[in-house]
This record gives sequence, C-alpha cells and structure tokens, in this order.
Amino acid sequence: MNSKQNLPQSHGDTENNKILRNLINRNVLLGMASNYKITMVLRLNIEFGFSLCLRDSVVEVYAICAEDFKKAKNQTSFLSKLILLILQPWAGLKFGFIKEKSPTLIGVDITSTSIKMVAFSRDANGQYQLDAYVISPIANLAMTDGNVADLEKVSDAISVAWKLLGSRKKRVALALPSAAVISKKVSLPADLSEDDMALQVEAEANQYIPFSLDEVNIDFQVLGPTAKNKEDVDVLIVAARKEKIEDRVAVAEGAGLDVVVMDVENYATEAAYSLLAKQLPDHGQEQTVVVVDIGASTMHIHVMHDCQTVYSREQNVGGDQLTQQIQTHFAMSAQEAELAKRQGNLPDTYLSEVLPAFVQNLAMEVARAVQFFLSSSQYHQVDHILLAGGCASIAGLDNAVQSRTNVHTLIANPFNSMRMSAKIKTQQAALDAPALLIACGLAMRSEVPL
Ligand SMILES: Nc1ncnc2c1ncn2[C@@H]1O[C@H](COP(=O)(O)OP(=O)(O)OP(=O)(O)O)[C@@H](O)[C@H]1O
Ligand SMILES: [Mg+2]
Repeated sequence: MNSKQNLPQSHGDTENNKILRNLINRNVLLGMASNYKITMVLRLNIEFGFSLCLRDSVVEVYAICAEDFKKAKNQTSFLSKLILLILQPWAGLKFGFIKEKSPTLIGVDITSTSIKMVAFSRDANGQYQLDAYVISPIANLAMTDGNVADLEKVSDAISVAWKLLGSRKKRVALALPSAAVISKKVSLPADLSEDDMALQVEAEANQYIPFSLDEVNIDFQVLGPTAKNKEDVDVLIVAARKEKIEDRVAVAEGAGLDVVVMDVENYATEAAYSLLAKQLPDHGQEQTVVVVDIGASTMHIHVMHDCQTVYSREQNVGGDQLTQQIQTHFAMSAQEAELAKRQGNLPDTYLSEVLPAFVQNLAMEVARAVQFFLSSSQYHQVDHILLAGGCASIAGLDNAVQSRTNVHTLIANPFNSMRMSAKIKTQQAALDAPALLIACGLAMRSEVPL
C-alpha cells in the first residue's frame, strides 16, 4: 500500500484517514501537495455517505468500493466499515438513472510561455469529453527554467486563464517539471508493514537525495513484485524540494483554485499517451513510439513501448530559436516576431530564407535523439514518431522528420476521436491539441483515482 511522508499531523492521522488516503492515492504517484489531498480526505471522511448523491464524486465512490472494498473493509474503523457496507451493493455498478458526472480535475500546465488548462468530463462509458481548454499567455520571464520567478504575475495569468476557460470547477491538478523531481526505483521486502516501508523509503531516500529530508516532500508507490525475487517488491520513490511545490500551489491558490494533485510532467505525458495511442495502428500495442514535445525552449523526448514510458530525455531546443531568427532577419521585436510566426503573417522570404533551415535543424535534432535512444537501449527500432508541442504545427516539420528518420511521423492529437462540448471550435482545437499533452494528462487525474 502506498503511504505518505510529511503528513500534517494537525489534521489528525486517524486510521480512517489513513485508509481513505491510501485509497485516494492508490494510482497517483505523487501527492506531494499532501496538505491539499488530506483536506480532501477529511472532507470525504465526513461526507462519504452523502457523496453518492450530493457531490460530483458519485462515480469515484463506486470505483473505490469496487476495487478496494475488501482491503478497506479489513482495515477501517467501525464507522468506515458501516459506510462501506452501505456502499457495497453499489460497488462497481453503473446507474442508468444517475447521470455520471465528471470526477476529473482541471489540468493546469504552467509553462515558460503560457498557462494551459484542459477540462474533461467522463461519459457513462468512461470516455473523455473535452469540455473546455485554454492557452493563455504568461508575462515574459514570470517563469524561468521551470521555476516560478514572479508569483504575482503567474498567479494573475492563472486567474485570467481560468476565467477564459469558463469552467465552474476549481479543483486542479498541477505538475512539477520532471527535472525538479528525483525518482528512484528500489527493491524492498514485500512483507514490510506500511510503517516499516515508510521508514525504509526514508532511509533509501537519504542516500539519493542531495538535500536535507526536511526540505523535501517524498512520496512512494509500490509498483509490484521484483522480477528476480518474488519476496521483494519494486518501489518507486519520488522526491522534490518543498519550495518548488509550495510555489506552484501558491500561484494556483492565489488565483482562487484548489490544488488537489501535484503530478510530474513526465507522468502526465504518459497518461496523455493513452489518448494519442488511439491515433496509431493497433492502438500502439507492442509498438515503440517516440513522442517528441517541442515547446518554446525545450524539446522533451518520451519513448513509449506497449504504452509504458521506457526512456525520457530533454534538451534545450525549441521555437524560441525560430522567433529569434525572425527577429534578426526582419528587424522585429520578440513579441512581433512571435505573433507573426503563429499567425503566418510574415514576408514571403520567411518561407524560403528562414523556415527551411530551422525545420531541417529541428528534424536533425529529432533524428539524433532517436538514434541516441536506439544506441543506448535494448530497442532496435521505432515504429512511429508523434510530434507534439507548439512546434508540431510548423508546416513541413512532420515530413522533414519522417525523411530524416525513415520512421512514420504524425502530429499528436490528444483530442483525436474525442467527443467535444458544442462550444469548442473543432478546427482550432485540432491545431492547439499538440501543445496540450501535459494539460490533458493532468485533466485525466481524478480526485479519487479510478
Ligand atoms: N502555428 C505555429 N507555427 C509556428 N510555431 C508555433 C505555432 N504555434 C506555436 N508555435 C511555437 O511553439 C512554441 C510554444 O509551444 P508550446 O506551447 O508547446 O511551448 P511551451 O510548453 O510553452 O514551452 P516549454 O515546453 O518549452 O516550456 C513557441 O515557440 C511558439 O512560437
Ligand atoms: Mg511545454
């Protein structure tokens, strides 16, 4: 079972809370904004019986019970047992007469250039519907190197983005940049009690984390039995500095939002890949697929095999370089160059004198990254490349990447074959979709994991 470190004892760490917290965290690798999750746990604890009809969490409650009922029943107090007993007959059932409501959170991706938000709901079959999304600019240098440099400006940008989103939901999932997180897989004896496991995790973390444990939040997830020794389990330990988490939570709270989940960008991309896989033959089963997310300043490479991440890396390549070239070539300010680039509103010579070299250079970087992956892993071939990020929209980049790599290349669209709310402009959504991978992965997070 999962557990948490650095839990605020003031909330009262009763047996009930522990169990509910474990249920809630079961599939979420990071709950580093622990205070926020615990608040939710406490509320659930009080409102559990009422959640069925009164709250959005109707479906979540069924799901918990279906999957974890037995485990929970053996370990909870009398009160929780009673509640779970009441819920038992409904566990896992779908009710035709109760409209399933979305248990999902708003996914909020705070990037170097913008605030991206996505809101999904789930239909009765568990399929996602796109309710709303927004990409709203952020003040220059308010975020630097993935850190919040100006709390007020970032908070204001989130507030503006949320208003533009037009959703009533206020509960959000955020992510830390992968580079801000230390993760380590270790093997521990399977028969450790939860408390002993937590102690062992702390001891292991001490060896790998170059900071005092007081300065970090640690979370861990038991992944399953260790391949070579059935008496051990693989445990993923994840740690990040508290200040990085607190800054992100503060900017969201400053905008009036409730942070429920603090994820990691890589995990959010992995979650969103399940939407992208629908674009691939056989839904990507048994295939090796490279997802290349090229943003303004960073290119992230994620290699998925059979829908699991097997490799990830990032490098400093992105659309900012093209903006700078446009600035120099056409004597424009950064803002003018950025706007003209996005709107395709540049002199004809842009297409002959500026863009081709940039496209070829980017394609070469992708080809190198793919080559590097192949030479440093057990994999011998890549079946598809999916281009994501704002730069995926650059005309001709997909063809250039395909010719350089000889790998089938297409543009990632997480909204592909997804139902959309009537107010979404579908053509614009298809253009914006590649830049929304992380926000989509976060928007798939539930308050209670299904
Ligand atoms: N239609 C377009 N044509 C060319 N470039 C575009 C287009 N749309 C977006 N871009 C470029 O994509 C980049 C932004 O992409 P994205 O939104 O994925 O970045 P980001 O997530 O904010 O940045 P990062 O991930 O590096 O922090 C910018 O450089 C922008 O100019
Ligand atoms: Mg990005």
